[in-house]
Amino acid sequence: MRRKMVAGNWKMHGNLLENKKLIDAVVTGLNGLHEVGFLVCVPYPYLPSVQNALQNTNIAWGAQNLSQYEKGAYTGEISASMLNDFMCRYVIVGHSERRTLFGEDNHVVAEKYQAAQGAGIIPILCVGETLNQREAGTTEQVIEEQLAAVIKLAGVESLVKAIVAYEPVWAIGTGRTASPEQAQEVHAFIREGIAKTNANVANGLTILYGGSVKASNASELFDMPDIDGGLIGGASLVANDFIAICRALHQ
Ligand code: 13P
Repeated sequence: MRRKMVAGNWKMHGNLLENKKLIDAVVTGLNGLHEVGFLVCVPYPYLPSVQNALQNTNIAWGAQNLSQYEKGAYTGEISASMLNDFMCRYVIVGHSERRTLFGEDNHVVAEKYQAAQGAGIIPILCVGETLNQREAGTTEQVIEEQLAAVIKLAGVESLVKAIVAYEPVWAIGTGRTASPEQAQEVHAFIREGIAKTNANVANGLTILYGGSVKASNASELFDMPDIDGGLIGGASLVANDFIAICRALHQ
């Protein structure tokens, strides 16, 4: 179901002490707001403590990655059912940092997406083009291929139980945000592309924008008709910034 949502992606940041301060402040700051879904995706070792702190609040927790395999001799990997042990409702798949730094291609991302859904966890599927691809005019083609790999493996109906995040690689951690119009153009392209196969799925799909979302630019992005919320990196580590972004969507 299409809904408004702000998700934090802590990436590889935090420690027990800092996390507690951050979570306590965010819980207090978002207390009583229920029209918007709030989520933090945290490093694996902190799932138990974050689960403990967030259960019975209006903030969900999730992971940033998972294995495409169920179990077995895969040293260092974490399976979907392990995430279930910590009641994760969401997991990020195909983040551009995983694609570029850890060699995850469209097929592996699709397998991870399917593994998450197989365990009842909602994948947040990240798609987005690099600066070179944008300048070469291939943005739409790149995103279409990233989505097509998932649709081929899991079917278009699987998107009913997924979230898509458009994260232009050139906007991640660079301070260079896509303009609301640039982001809207790609969000509409994603929704219209899916509508060609299944209009109901397209209309019900939550599509988040990620890439240097800040308290100062969140409202103008969230005002766009096909932007349903944000996937927030750096600003999700600063309680007041994250709260302000969440409140920008709430308004
Ligand atoms: P920044 O908000 O730090 O640009 O990161 C965005 C991101 O990668 C979220 O997944």
